[in-house]
Amino acid sequence: MKQLVNLTCLAVISMWTISGPTIAAETIEIPFNLAKGQVLYEKYCSSCHGMQLDGTDEGPPLVHPFYKPSHHGDKSFYRAALQGTKQHHWNFGDMKPVEGMTRKKMDSIVPYVRYYQQQKKLF
Ligand code: HEC
Repeated sequence: MKQLVNLTCLAVISMWTISGPTIAAETIEIPFNLAKGQVLYEKYCSSCHGMQLDGTDEGPPLVHPFYKPSHHGDKSFYRAALQGTKQHHWNFGDMKPVEGMTRKKMDSIVPYVRYYQQQKKLF
């Protein structure tokens, strides 16, 4: 019996090692000049739109065809963050204006989001 437990442990450990690099490969490397945008995004947006821009229970993914530049241009990002937006594409409720948000902060956040979308082959 004890041996069986040990075997299970081994299996779990080796699965962990195998899945490690796959997860790492999906991580997007953020260039240095976008690091500020990343920090600001994670502080102000990720609680609803997800650390990987993949959405949460509170808000939709931003890596989604709705939000590519041809459908939601940069202006709609500034507008959503500074003035909020009414619920229209999803059922999460309205997005309220983000407290503490400024145009200047959005000047960093928008290029970060666009870069991330691009890396995820959204456009
Ligand atoms: C409290 C949760 C919450 C936070 C924080 C939040 N959002 Fe949103 N956001 C939402 C929800 C919910 C929607 C979806 C509205 C709909 O279309 O139904 C949305 C929609 C959007 C849209 C689409 C706007 C449109 O015109 O359709 C953009 C762009 C956006 N968010 C960007 C951001 C950015 C950038 C930040 C950080 C500065 C942010 N959001 C922070 C909840 C949030």
